[in-house]
Amino acid sequence: MNILITGGAGFIGSHLCEFLLNNGDKIICMDNFFTGRIRNIKHLEDNPNFKVIPHDITQPLRNVVKEHIDQIYNLACPASPVHYQFDPIETIKANTLGVINVLEFAKLNGSRVLQASTSEIYGDPEIHPQVETYRGNVNTLGPRACYDEGKRVAETLFMDYHRKYNLNIRIVRIFNTYGPRMAENDGRVISNFIVQALKNKDITVFGDGSQTRSFCYVKDLVQGLYNMMNQDYVGPVNLGNTNETTIIEIAKKITNYTKSSSKIIFNSLPEDDPKQRKPDISLAKEKLNWEPKINFEEGIKKTIEYFKSSLS
Ligand SMILES: NC(=O)c1ccc[n+]([C@@H]2O[C@H](COP(=O)([O-])OP(=O)(O)OC[C@H]3O[C@@H](n4cnc5c(N)ncnc54)[C@H](O)[C@@H]3O)[C@@H](O)[C@H]2O)c1
Repeated sequence: MNILITGGAGFIGSHLCEFLLNNGDKIICMDNFFTGRIRNIKHLEDNPNFKVIPHDITQPLRNVVKEHIDQIYNLACPASPVHYQFDPIETIKANTLGVINVLEFAKLNGSRVLQASTSEIYGDPEIHPQVETYRGNVNTLGPRACYDEGKRVAETLFMDYHRKYNLNIRIVRIFNTYGPRMAENDGRVISNFIVQALKNKDITVFGDGSQTRSFCYVKDLVQGLYNMMNQDYVGPVNLGNTNETTIIEIAKKITNYTKSSSKIIFNSLPEDDPKQRKPDISLAKEKLNWEPKINFEEGIKKTIEYFKSSLS
């Protein structure tokens, strides 16, 4: 199959490119390299089934992709608060103009198209764990809104193209994902803590560290994306790990696994930081026959090994 992955040079995108190439598919990796990096996909460059197209999805796709495309995974959007708040207008554009361009291209090609949505569309949730029917608690005016509201509009656009044009869509809501090839400067908790621990610098916990997150290893997530794309249910479907941990516990585990001499220090909590996050994945189990398999200890050790070699 010919598959287009937008945002293919990013953290999750590069793992998805690798997975699908191993499956025997032909991959076009489209990226504007805002947060994506050549080094994430360097090892794939010699594969004759792999092609990179530098392109920003806020510009139409039809002039740059000439092949017939069977499936599109739309991952193009900066994903960490540091990056998506760097230029909030560009973030909104990726999720509105960019998404319309991807959907128009899918319509033209008759492609099936999957949207990488996010648990952030639930905002600071009032129900726990979060089920797909929960409509969320998002601040439209806050600094995270460019991403949260952008991703909400993107879901709306996907559903409207589905209803109006019968476009073959899939929507997944991805919860916190971690693993090798996360950017060391993305400000996300796992990469921050590992880099700080490996450099024996203070580990900065926001708030008192009692807020919770559930972290899914990237290999599990990629399998979930694939399962979602290749079954009949449109979605949305939550993809994430249900193993909930406090941030302070994570800091302690990472200090321990890296044998670091770092001290844990506490900073003020960023605005609109959700207090708890945990997916209900009953739907993913039922429709996709999917649940995460890799436990935190195994995944975090692999991630630490990656950062050890990339920092040295
Ligand atoms: N990592 C997570 O925990 C997580 C959680 C929820 C949702 N997601 C979603 O998954 C997708 C991938 O996330 P990631 O963690 O790999 O982030 P990432 O920043 O590593 O990857 C995003 C990729 O998109 C590219 N990109 C950004 N804007 C673009 C544009 N306008 N045109 C073309 N390319 C563009 C970037 O250069 C990068 O390669 C994103 O859509 C994100 O919102 C990720």
